Amino acid sequence: MAKEKEKKKKGESTKKVTLETSQLANQYRPKKLKEVVGQDATVAALEGMFKRGKVPAVIMFSGHYGCGKTSFAKIMAKQINCEKLSMCGKCTSCKFNKHPDIIEHDAAVHGKIDEIRALISGSNNAPAFRKRVVIVDEVHALRDASEKALLVATENPSPNTIWVLCTTNPEKMNKALVSRATHLRLKQIEMETMVSRLLFIAEAEGATIKKTAKKAISTIVSISICLRRR
Ligand SMILES: Nc1ncnc2c1ncn2[C@@H]1O[C@H](COP(=O)(O)OP(=O)(O)OP(=O)(O)O)[C@@H](O)[C@H]1O
Ligand SMILES: [Mg+2]
Ligand SMILES: [Zn+2]
Repeated sequence: MAKEKEKKKKGESTKKVTLETSQLANQYRPKKLKEVVGQDATVAALEGMFKRGKVPAVIMFSGHYGCGKTSFAKIMAKQINCEKLSMCGKCTSCKFNKHPDIIEHDAAVHGKIDEIRALISGSNNAPAFRKRVVIVDEVHALRDASEKALLVATENPSPNTIWVLCTTNPEKMNKALVSRATHLRLKQIEMETMVSRLLFIAEAEGATIKKTAKKAISTIVSISICLRRR
């Protein structure tokens, strides 16, 4: 209370500030392959697939938390259905916010066998556009029976469907399922890349970052990277 009075005397605001971090994370989620930072090899591999017009029926993104797995899955799913296979932003498919052919399934929350069977049976439906894309996030969290059902479904996938599996722990998965997928391993994003992305977002949000604050941001990013590597 005494502190509040002191602040008011100095003319400072005592208004509470709330940070809306998840909103920013989504707002700045890359929408196109060329917007993804620090994952050049994966971007090149996907660009090659789209150029050749050949996308595998089962594809898997693995890597550390927050390195871009779900972002890649969402971009791919939209690009596959773009009239020009390029995220043109102009065709009917690109303009969809909630695309009818893209199914996002969180296996950590909905990993029961009935839920996976329903997902598999839905995957056989004809797509409204080019392909139905089923994104199974946290796929390592599937229980045994569910994982086996997915293994069978991906053995002879419907020509309508592309399965995109995302995981932080491919080593915990059924080996046959892993080997069935075209496996793209994402890198841990380098400290410099992460700092410059954060500064880009801060500036886009209208913040002016002082030199000392930039140093503090670099330190926090290095600590967070070290903690993740442990
Ligand atoms: N390579 C990247 N380039 C640009 N932004 C990124 C990248 N990776 C992550 N981000 C940012 O971080 C947010 C979270 O990324 P995303 O959900 O793709 O990571 P993830 O690997 O799926 O994480 P998790 O393991 O927690 O599921 C994105 O919305 C985006 O703002
Ligand atoms: Mg994810
Ligand atoms: Zn398009």
